[in-house]
Amino acid sequence: MDLDVKNTTKRYGHVTALSDLSLTIPAGSLTCFLGPSGCGKTTLLRVIAGLETAEEGQILLGEDDLSDTPPSERNFGVVFQSYSLFPNLTALRNVQYGLECRGWSRGRRRARAEEMLDLVHLRDQAGKLPEQMSGGQQQRIAIARALAPEPSLLLLDEPLSALDAKVRAELRSEIRSIQQKFGITTIMVTHDQNEALEMADQIVVLRDGQIEQVGAPRDLYAHPQTRFVADFIGAINLLDISANAAGRAQFGMQELHIEGPLNGATTLGLRPEAITLSDEPAGAENSLACTVTNTRFMGNLQHVELRPNGAPDQLLQVEMNGLAQTPRRGDQLLANFPANALLVLR
Ligand SMILES: Nc1ncnc2c1ncn2[C@@H]1O[C@H](COP(=O)(O)OP(=O)(O)OP(=O)(O)O)[C@@H](O)[C@H]1O
Ligand SMILES: [Mg+2]
Repeated sequence: MDLDVKNTTKRYGHVTALSDLSLTIPAGSLTCFLGPSGCGKTTLLRVIAGLETAEEGQILLGEDDLSDTPPSERNFGVVFQSYSLFPNLTALRNVQYGLECRGWSRGRRRARAEEMLDLVHLRDQAGKLPEQMSGGQQQRIAIARALAPEPSLLLLDEPLSALDAKVRAELRSEIRSIQQKFGITTIMVTHDQNEALEMADQIVVLRDGQIEQVGAPRDLYAHPQTRFVADFIGAINLLDISANAAGRAQFGMQELHIEGPLNGATTLGLRPEAITLSDEPAGAENSLACTVTNTRFMGNLQHVELRPNGAPDQLLQVEMNGLAQTPRRGDQLLANFPANALLVLR
């Protein structure tokens, strides 16, 4: 069943943490809430979980209005950033805990807990206390515990942010494959754009308690609507432009060709990998004469920084294959890109 957040407003004193926010979480999807610190990600998750009460709005699961249902009766699984396992219970007892509260028989509890430990590859750790396990293991146990009672929704608040990079990468794909295996509707809070791009079916970009843009990862990357989203997801060149007498985009001394109307925009986005460099005109719709100001070799990639001639305040970042010949500082080159690579941003 889809989860619908409708016209939800949540205030803490004078701070409006969520402002008239509406959103659908499709059944069976993994949705990421992404945004900078303080934008309202945790608040939105807690309102959905019933751990916070919104002043206005509704939370609907299918047709059911959950607004007045206490958290314990929502049957949602929740995992927080800090592992929040019961320190005095073994891994197995931690996973069984929610089943005890729900009145499952002893035999069923044990079987289910063991099944969940298998799922997170920690059956051999069943007898350990949390303090005897690594951070990654504890977080796996927390996920197993959240999934054990067969929740209708899994809510994860930055579950990976306390872990080191390697464990984080492993758990990303593990969470995603468990989520897909069960088809469980999942919401994960993160401020890590790569995590969201890699894992999500749908990304909700939040800003100041409001939705900035919602879309599939590829959508948000290829078609950001605002400067904020373009800048937050992936690397991008932001070009300051003005409309010239002909109503076209003027960038420094040169005119840029875009697809579609400019609609009064003053910023165009251009992904670094959309640009190719050449010595001679290469027949591209846009071709900016530039001077190379810097290069950085990074193995599989190299970054080249250029100053477009006649636009002294702007720099273009270009991403090239690591095996291509590296330009030298001071080289005069053309930066080529098609009209449809220029993103018109609000
Ligand atoms: N219990 C609280 N009392 C008062 N203000 C709060 C409380 N919880 C959150 N806020 C405020 O509400 C706003 C949203 O906070 P929230 O914790 O939802 O942000 P977040 O996006 O999860 O940030 P982070 O990435 O830092 O976790 C912030 O301005 C925060 O200071
Ligand atoms: Mg938070």
